[in-house]
Amino acid sequence: MTTTEAQPALTPEPILQALQGYQVSAILNTGLELGVFDRIAEGNDDPKSIATAIGADERGTRILLDALAAVGFLSADNGHYILTPVADTFLVSERPAYLGGMMNILGGEWQWEAFMRLGEAVRNGGTVLDEHAETPGHTWWETFARSIGGMATPAAEGLAAILDPWTRDRETLEVLDVACGNGQYALAVGAHNEQARITLLDWPNVLAVTRGEVEKAGMGDRTSYIEGNMFEVPLGGPYDLIITSHVYHHFSEERCTELLERLAGALKPGGRLAIQDFMAGDAPPAEDPFPRLFSVLMLVWTREGEAYPVSAYERMLPAAGFGKPEVFRPPGAPMSFLVAERAG
Ligand SMILES: C[S@@+](CC[C@H](N)C(=O)[O-])C[C@H]1O[C@@H](n2cnc3c(N)ncnc32)[C@H](O)[C@@H]1O
Repeated sequence: MTTTEAQPALTPEPILQALQGYQVSAILNTGLELGVFDRIAEGNDDPKSIATAIGADERGTRILLDALAAVGFLSADNGHYILTPVADTFLVSERPAYLGGMMNILGGEWQWEAFMRLGEAVRNGGTVLDEHAETPGHTWWETFARSIGGMATPAAEGLAAILDPWTRDRETLEVLDVACGNGQYALAVGAHNEQARITLLDWPNVLAVTRGEVEKAGMGDRTSYIEGNMFEVPLGGPYDLIITSHVYHHFSEERCTELLERLAGALKPGGRLAIQDFMAGDAPPAEDPFPRLFSVLMLVWTREGEAYPVSAYERMLPAAGFGKPEVFRPPGAPMSFLVAERAG
């Protein structure tokens, strides 16, 4: 005899939640933009004092505070609000792990406009925007380089630590960071290895931002720059180590392989390529959503990019002259690191 287990009743709640998803982004963005988290961290805890501190209307502030509490960034008790541990750690601008800059990267004005045209991008199979991620010298990449610190700094430290056993005993360490953004990845390797000499490649307008980061890190005397298109500009070298962080998801597999071939040609025999990117693993989308959602962002603002799974890199790297990569996935992080040696 079989027993029929009672199934929970279906409700439309997941649909309503998804339809309100844009509100959650807007509520968080506005909390950051108005400095709500900073002012609460300073001790303001009720709508009146918070409204005064952020220069806003009290009723508008109360509604925003309740919404921030509804989505888990504040705890509300009898008209008083405190930061939840996540907000206290990541949303207060003075904290070392501050992630507010990510608002510009994942949820800024540019992305909102791009997502308004998602349907067109789906029909087209890629961006329909006149200005997009592949537009040479796009000013948005300057914003990116200025805003990514909170995410990049710990990730760069993680990459430098992964590379330590290989880099630390090398007499020379010539490092090229391609599409370097704020340069944090090469700078972290430089901080771990005094012998490292660094070359940073990006569009000229982005390198204007990067230069400031290099000076802050005190590495100006061992850093040089290559301005221009990574698919065309002479790469110099040969290098011991080439770093490419969050690069390949902008392009088709063919274009990635073309770039990888260029990079293999700029490495010394036995040299290494380090890759960081959002990569889907074997888990189904519902169990590993970040790379799948990130691919939608790539759909709206690149012509052919997406977050490739590790298996795609395992295809592209040998085709471009590298050995099979070692794969590192930091626990709890949506990105993976791959390290591959130049073959031959
Ligand atoms: C997503 S950001 C990654 C920046 C940095 N590597 C990081 O992980 O923080 C992509 C970078 O690629 C640069 N970029 C895009 N296309 C490029 C090209 N064809 N040549 C040189 N740089 C390019 C952009 O200017 C931007 O700095």
